[in-house]
Amino acid sequence: MTSRDNLLWLQCWRDRQTDFHQETVNHFLTRFWPSLAPASGSRVFVPLCGKSLDMIWLAAQGHQVIGVELSPIAVRDFFRENGLRPTRRRFGKFIHWQHGRISILCGDYFALNQADLGAIDTVYDRAALTALPEDIRRLYVAHLREIVPDTSQVFLLTTEDAAENETASEALGVGVEITSLYSADFEIDLAHVESVFELDPDAPERPPERAEYKVYRLSSRSALV
Ligand SMILES: C[S@@+](CC[C@H](N)C(=O)[O-])C[C@H]1O[C@@H](n2cnc3c(N)ncnc32)[C@H](O)[C@@H]1O
Repeated sequence: MTSRDNLLWLQCWRDRQTDFHQETVNHFLTRFWPSLAPASGSRVFVPLCGKSLDMIWLAAQGHQVIGVELSPIAVRDFFRENGLRPTRRRFGKFIHWQHGRISILCGDYFALNQADLGAIDTVYDRAALTALPEDIRRLYVAHLREIVPDTSQVFLLTTEDAAENETASEALGVGVEITSLYSADFEIDLAHVESVFELDPDAPERPPERAEYKVYRLSSRSALV
């Protein structure tokens, strides 16, 4: 990730351009998470976590939640808006905020190492991989492989452009890209697809386009042998 991208994200939070934030817990998470059969108390990593309420839900399931987020505004808002009073301390290149079962490392995902994170059982990715520019996604996945144990599973939620997926050449389409990024190390189970016609909020005069909400469960091949 170039520092230019980081500056743009920090600016987004300053300008409150955070349309990606969901005001309720993601319903694909609550519906499909139990199918992973994660043990209560297991450790869940939430890369590029923003101020997602999904972390509150995961903690309520008994998980230890570890998020990483660039913007201190997002982290401060997360705790404040949920009425939580976190502790805050410097932790290497990060500021570590913590309350109960939720820790957020405020800093750059690409500066994280395995020791910072500790053991991770499951990675929860909603709008993290897909928030990054295409040329950075391979680096994101390569970095993830470095910082989480080989046996971790990944629960991945995406919103994909159906037309793009249908015409996808090798270079296009998130669905194709996920296979290319993850299939070497993971069994990919596409657990659910939901098609919805949506207006583009930036161009509401255009006809609605079909979006596909997808739920992927990725099991590490190392864990399967
Ligand atoms: C599209 S948002 C998704 C947030 C969250 N996953 C959700 O579901 O609401 C992407 C988030 O990643 C953060 N981010 C972008 N690049 C990052 C980086 N290199 N390290 C840590 N956080 C980053 C942004 O500040 C933003 O909050």
